[in-house]
Amino acid sequence: MAPPVSTDTAGPRPRPRPPLEPVRWWRRPWIVPLALFSVTFLLYSVPPYASLDPADARLPIPETPAWYFPVMLVHIFGGTLLTVLVILQVWPWLRSRYPVVHRWSGRIYVLAGIPLVGVPALLIAPFSSTGLGTQVSNTLWAVLWSTFTLLGYVMARRRRFADHREWMLRSFALLYGIAFNRVVILLLLPLAILQAQTGAIPNTEAAITLAIAPASSFLSWVVPLLFVEWWIKYRGPRRRRRPVPA
Ligand code: HEM
Repeated sequence: MAPPVSTDTAGPRPRPRPPLEPVRWWRRPWIVPLALFSVTFLLYSVPPYASLDPADARLPIPETPAWYFPVMLVHIFGGTLLTVLVILQVWPWLRSRYPVVHRWSGRIYVLAGIPLVGVPALLIAPFSSTGLGTQVSNTLWAVLWSTFTLLGYVMARRRRFADHREWMLRSFALLYGIAFNRVVILLLLPLAILQAQTGAIPNTEAAITLAIAPASSFLSWVVPLLFVEWWIKYRGPRRRRRPVPA
């Protein structure tokens, strides 16, 4: 008897991927410290801006352009929303248990984040009061964050989910740069004080701030980005994927 003739002209079908092991929260214990770190950062950084008074701001607010302070406020309140959303996005348990929540908070992250955080950051970055080094770093930071976030969104729309995850991880790393900035400042402060005491820079608060700001701005986004690149290459899901034992 002749063998049955296949009518499938689309070539060999890809083999179905084995299911992932269910994610247990205790196997990803970093989510709790990450959430605590985010909340601590928000409680420390955002309240001075809640009065909507430029006199309460942590940074000197330039008088011109007049739109600077309102745009900065939009950026800060949008950034607060995004910092909370990121926790939902990277929480493996929520992602695997409630994918609808992940999809909707992801859409808000991108579609509110670009106009409320990325574009305002790009507008205020060239006016940073701490000089050209900070202005260049902040501008690059804002451009890269917006680009990574948009690429992550485009990859999800094209259903290229592995690429989507990687671009979003880069976006989250840069978003966390602002919280990491507080840690970097604390680490650089003793060095700048030492320079002031040895006469390398004037021993004033303004000079110490000017010495720290460009370095802290660059380190704040470059270090998290390098960490995420390392993680994607050596520890990411493309490497970690294990089939469930039969
Ligand atoms: C997504 C990446 C981000 C970029 C590129 C960015 C960029 C900027 C820039 C350019 C400034 C002005 C700084 C200066 O004049 O020297 C600024 C200030 C500020 N941003 Fe962001 N930002 C980002 C995310 C966030 C997030 C998520 C928050 C969370 C609330 C936030 C909160 C603030 C605050 C509070 C300030 C006022 C200055 C301070 O207290 O440090 N930013 N940001």
